[in-house]
Amino acid sequence: MEILVTGGAGYIGSHTCVELLNSGYDVIVVDNFSNSKPESLRRVEEITGKHLKFYESDILDKAILEKIFSENNIEAVIHFAGFKAVGESIKTPILYYHNNITGTLILCTEMKKHNVKRLVFSSSATVYGMPKSVPISEYFPLSATNPYGRTKLMIETILQDMYSSDKEWSIAILRYFNPIGAHQSGRIGEDPNGIPNNLMPFITQVAVGKRDKLNIFGGNYATHDGTGVRDYIHVVDLAKGHLSALEKIMKTSGIEPYNLGTGVGYSVLDLVKNFEKATNKKIPYVITAPRLGDIAKCYANPIKAKTILKWSAQKNIQDMCIDAWRFQVNNPNGY
Ligand code: NAD
Ligand code: UD1
Repeated sequence: MEILVTGGAGYIGSHTCVELLNSGYDVIVVDNFSNSKPESLRRVEEITGKHLKFYESDILDKAILEKIFSENNIEAVIHFAGFKAVGESIKTPILYYHNNITGTLILCTEMKKHNVKRLVFSSSATVYGMPKSVPISEYFPLSATNPYGRTKLMIETILQDMYSSDKEWSIAILRYFNPIGAHQSGRIGEDPNGIPNNLMPFITQVAVGKRDKLNIFGGNYATHDGTGVRDYIHVVDLAKGHLSALEKIMKTSGIEPYNLGTGVGYSVLDLVKNFEKATNKKIPYVITAPRLGDIAKCYANPIKAKTILKWSAQKNIQDMCIDAWRFQVNNPNGY
C-alpha cells in the first residue's frame, strides 16, 4: 500500500517512515528540505534496508503534487510538512499562514481530485491554548496564543468543513504533546537549526559541551517543583501512533482528533535529573524569567487513542533521555 508522507525528511516524519517501511508499506516522501536534510532519508533507508521514493519539492507547488498523485497509486497521506517554531511564527506570520495553511489547501485539493480521501494530520497540543485543568481531553475548548498555533487550529477547522461537505473523507487529527528522543540506532533524531527552542535538544547540546548551561524558564509555576510540566513522548512511540491512526482511517470514514501523549507530566527539573541519571552527565542550569506564552502544566488524557486506535506509549523517560543522548553523541553537528 502506497502512503504519501509530506515532510517525511523531518524529525517526526523520518521516524514515521522507518515504522511504515518496517511494517511493509510503500513510502513516498515529498519534502523541500526547508528544515531538514536529504541525509535523514538516506539513513531511513539504511536503518530499514528498504527503499523509499522521494520527491524534492514544495507542497505549495500544485504541478508537482499533481504529478505525484498521477504517477503513484497513493491510498493515504500523512501530512507533516509545515513550519513549527512559535517565536518565528510571531515574527513572520504570513510565511507561517502561507506555508501551513495554503500548503494544506493545495494538498487537499489534489487529494480530492485524485480521489485520495484518507489523511493523517499533524496537529499539536498547542490547540488547547491555556487549558483550565490537566489532564487534557480531546473535548476541551480549543484556542491558540500565537500564529503557529492558529495555523493548526485553522487547519483542523478546514478539515472539519471538508469532511462535512464530503463524508467520504477519513481523517485522523493527531494532537502531539512533546516529542523527544530519537531512534534507538542513533542514526536519526532531532537536528534543530541554530539555538534550540525546545528543552531536550537544548539539554543534549549542554551535555555535549556546545552550550554552557540550560536556562530554565520560570521557577515559580504552580507545579511540584516550580518548573513547567509537560507530557514528553518518545518520538518512536509517536511514529507508531501514526500507523495505528492509518489503520483506523483505512477502515472507516469520519474525522476524529486524538491526543498522542503518555498521560504523565514531568517538570523541567525532572527531565534534567532523569537526563543526568541516564547519561551520567551534569547539566548546569540557572532559573530565569518565564518564557512569554508558556503554561504551567500540559499533559494528555490519552484514553481515546488507547481505546479507539489501540495505541499507547511504551517507552519511559529514561528511554527518551538515553536515545536523545545517543543521537547527539553520534552526531555532534547534526546530519
Ligand atoms: P520538522 O521541521 O522536523 O519537519 C517538517 C518537515 O516538513 C521538514 O522536513 C521540512 O523541510 C518540511 N516542509 C516544511 N514546509 C514544507 C513545504 N512547504 N513543502 C515540503 N516540505 C516542507 O518538524 P517535526 O518536528 O517533524 O514536525 C512535523 C509536524 O508535526 C509539523 O507539522 C509540526 O508542526 C507538527 N508538530 C511538531 C511538534 C514537535 O514538537 N516536533 C509538536 C506538535 C506538532
Ligand atoms: C513548544 C511550543 C509548542 C509546541 C511544542 C512542541 C512554545 C512557546 N511552545 O511547547 O507550540 O507545540 O513546543 O514542539 O515554543 N524550557 C526551558 N528552557 C529551554 C527550553 C524550554 O526551561 O531552553 C521549558 C519550557 O518553559 C517548558 C518546557 O521546558 O516548560 C518544555 O519546553 P519546549 O520543549 O519548548 O516545549 P513547549 O513549551 O511545551
